[in-house]
Amino acid sequence: MGRLDGCVAIVTGAGRGLGRAHALCLAAEGASVVVNDLGSARDGGGSDCSPADAVVHEVRAAGGSAIADHGDVSDLDQAERMVNTAVAEFGRLDAVVNNAGILRDRMLFNMSGEDWDAVMRVHLKGSFALTHHAVRHWRALVKDGQQVDARIVCTSSPSGLYGNVGQANYAAAKAGLVGFTLTLAKEVEKYGIAVNALSPGARTRMTEGLFDMDEGADLWAPENVSPALAWLLSDAARGLTGTVLEVEAGWVGFAAPWTHGPRRRQTDRHWSVDDVDRVMPELWRDYRESVEDRQ
Ligand SMILES: NC(=O)c1ccc[n+]([C@@H]2O[C@H](COP(=O)([O-])OP(=O)(O)OC[C@H]3O[C@@H](n4cnc5c(N)ncnc54)[C@H](O)[C@@H]3O)[C@@H](O)[C@H]2O)c1
Repeated sequence: MGRLDGCVAIVTGAGRGLGRAHALCLAAEGASVVVNDLGSARDGGGSDCSPADAVVHEVRAAGGSAIADHGDVSDLDQAERMVNTAVAEFGRLDAVVNNAGILRDRMLFNMSGEDWDAVMRVHLKGSFALTHHAVRHWRALVKDGQQVDARIVCTSSPSGLYGNVGQANYAAAKAGLVGFTLTLAKEVEKYGIAVNALSPGARTRMTEGLFDMDEGADLWAPENVSPALAWLLSDAARGLTGTVLEVEAGWVGFAAPWTHGPRRRQTDRHWSVDDVDRVMPELWRDYRESVEDRQ
């Protein structure tokens, strides 16, 4: 008995790195997986069917159930085809894992419009396109009187949560996915759809050279991230929505949500610049202290 027996999931960018580890882990827990991967280069160029095909082969060799999809996540028609493939091949769809991603790292003054657009297209539009069609599918089932217990996971990043030099485009997209997750969680809870974000860290071609091998357990292995994703798709996570799970270097936990920091309200008149100047030094000091407390 696996924790995901009977579950049908689409994992995007599942031909390599984290997506591959996700697909193998979900399948090992009993899920049937649509292994999507365009097979592009790290910067988004080109395409190649072999990464997705190889993962499907690995899943099947281990006794699991999977089918390949070579579509581009940022194309609405190809994203719709992924949903249709899941339903046609496996009879249902329970989960969508928006994982596909590319990098175009540059300092902002060297970043081209194309570098900006390419990153927004794959991460933001790609997550929108597949999620859009999956939500339409599940909403139609609910309208038809069926009960739905579906999961969407979007992939954010420490860059999006905390910022990282040279990744203004990527960080903006990854922070955008948190806003997308929080908003969508509120929109679709009534249909039985939970939406969470995963902020992973792992040694893949995207992070080559950043993370050394540790002694003992290889804490930065992609396989060390996927079990938390599998848990998010399992029955045990029912009711959990609108959160960001941080999973890296052996850690599993929640990112603290955005919350109001130190603030003052003035209700008897509009603020003047002098009023702001009167309260800000104290607020700034409280803010600095509260930020230092968290580090
Ligand atoms: N590796 C890390 O430490 C790390 C940290 C934070 C976030 N992430 C995020 O995790 C996700 C996976 O990253 P990874 O490190 O495994 O990278 P990776 O480059 O190893 O894998 C990404 C996969 O996405 C595929 N892909 C790219 N564009 C696509 C498209 N338009 N349609 C379909 N597939 C496409 C690629 O072919 C590739 O196989 C990404 O969203 C990344 O931003 C990774």
